[in-house]
Amino acid sequence: MTVKIAVLPGDGIGPEIVREALKVLKVLNSEYGLDAEWDIATIGGAGYDASGDPYPEATRILSREADAVLLGAVGGPQWASLDRPFRPESGLLGIRADLGLFANYRPVKVHRQLPDASTLKPEVIDGVDMMVVRELVGGVYFGQPRGIIEEHGERKGVNTMSYTEGEVQRIARIAFEAARLRGGKVCNVDKANVLDVSEFWREIVCHVHDDFSDIELSHMYVDNAAMQLIRNPKQFDVILTSNLFGDILSDEASMLTGSIGMLPSASIGQAHAMYEPIHGSAPDIAGRNRANPLAMILSVSMMLKYTLNRSDLASAVDAAVEAALDDGVRTFDLAGGSRTVSCSEMGDVVCGKLARMMA
Ligand code: IPM
Ligand code: MG
Repeated sequence: MTVKIAVLPGDGIGPEIVREALKVLKVLNSEYGLDAEWDIATIGGAGYDASGDPYPEATRILSREADAVLLGAVGGPQWASLDRPFRPESGLLGIRADLGLFANYRPVKVHRQLPDASTLKPEVIDGVDMMVVRELVGGVYFGQPRGIIEEHGERKGVNTMSYTEGEVQRIARIAFEAARLRGGKVCNVDKANVLDVSEFWREIVCHVHDDFSDIELSHMYVDNAAMQLIRNPKQFDVILTSNLFGDILSDEASMLTGSIGMLPSASIGQAHAMYEPIHGSAPDIAGRNRANPLAMILSVSMMLKYTLNRSDLASAVDAAVEAALDDGVRTFDLAGGSRTVSCSEMGDVVCGKLARMMA
């Protein structure tokens, strides 16, 4: 069966890393019998430049019809002063909301070949393997009212953090189900000591837990979680958290691996799924063939596993990445290794490994 993928390179290093991901898909097509087709469309600043909309209608149609969406990255200084609805980030939030991608899986795994890549001591990070489950289409990112308003002769900025019962239930289920396939532990991270919305969130998480008595549930305030992630990251299996806290904690957790350039993600809804690295568009190195394409390539692996039900191919891609790292091949963001390579060379090395594994 042919699988249709909507490919949205976006801005900055997005097109460069997506190019490497497509090389991987081509190898899977030619050597592994995958039957994937793709169409490319714009999003973010590229969408705005092409059609005045960071989430263009053509992209919307393509993405809704596809079996999965692969996205590079969005954003850049040239669009930062546009009105908010026209900014690249609005395109990303737009597609997440439009496709109903409420569950964001962000695996954080320390690669054994990269013990020195992190700024933390090897004994602290060795063996770290956790999954941040971030709610992606609610919370303060989307709550109403919002905006910059004038009140009593003074300007005021407003955002609202709110969650409905249903929104908490569905993401909590996702976290417990994820834990079942992993270490059997969920740590719910909130700010229930201060925020009503968090107190409510925690209450619902506890209710949902009644259906998952095999899973060990703990709770942690987000400030403590930020500290514990650095102090003893191995204590975590699945972290369940809201949109904003998940955004912050997943960037922090990425540094356990040594580089944000290593972390893929999957964003899943009822009917759609999108795969993207957690990092941004890195405008400072865009167009210079210096980006790390591994987060993007590992996002392809997540797509193979979660949407295409091809865990076998996902494992092959993961193994090819591991083999490249085993050989000491590193992009510029990763310390150590024996050979520093460009973005496209890293893609070539991974594709070579992948093709040879099949031969
Ligand atoms: C992420 C990013 C996005 C977010 C930005 C680019 C809107 O930081 O995916 O983590 O805040 O969700
Ligand atoms: Mg982020």
